[in-house]
Amino acid sequence: MCGIVGYIGEQEATPILVEGLKKLEYRGYDSAGVALYNDGNMDIFKIVGKLENLEGLTDKEKPKGTIGIGHTRWATHGKPSTPNSHPHTSTNGKFTVVHNGIIENYMQLKEELKAKGYEFKSETDTEVVPNLIQDNYDGDLEEAVRKTIEMLKGAYALVVLSTEEPEKLVTVREDSPLIIGLGEGEYFVASDIPAILKHTDEVYILDDGEMAVITRNGVELSTVTGNNVDKDVFKVDWDPGMAEKGGFDHFMLKEIHEQPEALRRSIAGRLNGDSVHFDNVNLTAKELEKYNKVYIIACGTAYYSGVVGKYAIEKLARIPVEVDVASEFRYREPLVDEKTLVIAVSQSGETADTLASLREARDRGAHVIAICNTVGSSIAREADDIIYLNAGPEIAVASTKAYITMLMCFYMLSIYLGKTKGLLEDDDSKKLISDLKRLPEQVEDIIENSTGTIKDLAKEYAKYEDAFYIGRLIDYAVALEGQLKLKEISYIHAEAYPAGELKHGPLALIEEGIPVVAVATQRSVIDKTLSNVKEVKARGGAVTGVVFEGEEDIEDLDYRIEIPGTSEILSAILAVVPLQLLSYYVAVQRGYDVDQPRNLAKSVTVE
Ligand code: F6R
Repeated sequence: MCGIVGYIGEQEATPILVEGLKKLEYRGYDSAGVALYNDGNMDIFKIVGKLENLEGLTDKEKPKGTIGIGHTRWATHGKPSTPNSHPHTSTNGKFTVVHNGIIENYMQLKEELKAKGYEFKSETDTEVVPNLIQDNYDGDLEEAVRKTIEMLKGAYALVVLSTEEPEKLVTVREDSPLIIGLGEGEYFVASDIPAILKHTDEVYILDDGEMAVITRNGVELSTVTGNNVDKDVFKVDWDPGMAEKGGFDHFMLKEIHEQPEALRRSIAGRLNGDSVHFDNVNLTAKELEKYNKVYIIACGTAYYSGVVGKYAIEKLARIPVEVDVASEFRYREPLVDEKTLVIAVSQSGETADTLASLREARDRGAHVIAICNTVGSSIAREADDIIYLNAGPEIAVASTKAYITMLMCFYMLSIYLGKTKGLLEDDDSKKLISDLKRLPEQVEDIIENSTGTIKDLAKEYAKYEDAFYIGRLIDYAVALEGQLKLKEISYIHAEAYPAGELKHGPLALIEEGIPVVAVATQRSVIDKTLSNVKEVKARGGAVTGVVFEGEEDIEDLDYRIEIPGTSEILSAILAVVPLQLLSYYVAVQRGYDVDQPRNLAKSVTVE
């Protein structure tokens, strides 16, 4: 986790660094800091709390310098505190480092360094790095970093700045993302593209085991073992406005409103009459025959998109699907082999557990398709095939537009697999594809038509500390995502159950006024869901139903939110939108920081 930035050029570095960090705040926000080299000195400013605290500090102190590094932290080793925040400096004060990742063998290295007389001011794993660089320094910074890297175990993206060689930044990556933005006589380092997008759209994406020495004259790329690297410049096609709030109070709300556009981008060029085409997936019917199982692996919201994916693939392509949380999958000798088709799902493409699961699956011979948002991310690069979400940058910690485009990708993939296997008649796929194309506009309608009701509902639901979400079949999958959204930003304890499971225990928790959201779009089980709604009502629960327009059979609701009609299997894309809005407005009602919920960070690059 954590976000890192660096700048070298002719401009004052502080505002560029602080602004870059603001764009990375989704990666961590418990403390932040910058280091600037100026006139023989290294000036370091760090402070606990959100970026605005660092901004206040740098506005007051006005650090000078045209080369610098910065960091926004999500604590792993050592509590959030000013001493534990980055940048960290070597004992002699000459080597300064920002780090994203975890140095697994830091305890042993720390003991060895202490025995040599090195001093430590923090509880972090990172502080061993500048001290090791000091220890390894013999007049060549690049060489000292190489020697240091050889001693480290774990994951790291590092940027090093030194008073010994102050005209350069040295950066290196292993299992944590790092990009270099290429300007005219100026260069930017960052964990992610939004941090540099305002300045340039040309970047190098560093691979694991690569390092860069950056001066005002250019960027030299090499492997940590010393071989030259020749890399293509990657052209980012995002509009800088895509990473700004654009008039909305929060990124989350903006991203909910961007969903129609994100869905349009996601389907662009992929839907053709009655068939689906992906640039990077080419499975023939013969190849598909080989696979007897699909395994979906992911974390959090991406995992819940996989639960929808299971319903869609099993229904349309008739292949058995298992969905697994990546942090479980990777450690339990999964039953995966060359007959398994694995789908790894991730917005960031850097989630440590999903990446490790992907590697585990490939080692066991599986063919891996990634469904991913971040171009050039580790998961996108290491998979055999890649389906990009094309959702654009997602900044809010609570995922919305990435989730909805994950669903879209699963639906398109299910149709693709069903067609390739010869199971879907042309008329059926034509109908599904025409319905898929209508979804963006229908999402627009839901946002427009249901926001008022949801704001009222939020005022009521915000008073409670527990909430329940129920549904059957694909509605249950949507309920899972709904409860996570509520939990993570409004801190209300929320749980999702298959509606039929209530009577096996959870019903005991229903009492007067308790919020229950019933997602009820699946006709084949509508009567059964209605019975469950009645069971809840009988115990005093306040039920909100998410139903198709004109649904007459679900009655007795306290609140009713309607979604436009579509093929039943596709309902997840529509049904989730009111649930996203509900969690957003409940969190606002409770006065919480929607975009940066406590204890969470967006890109989870630690285990
Ligand atoms: C929840 C949320 C997280 C992520 C999870 C996986 O709103 O955003 O649960 O879904 O951390 O992240 P990615 O998709 O980047 O692998």
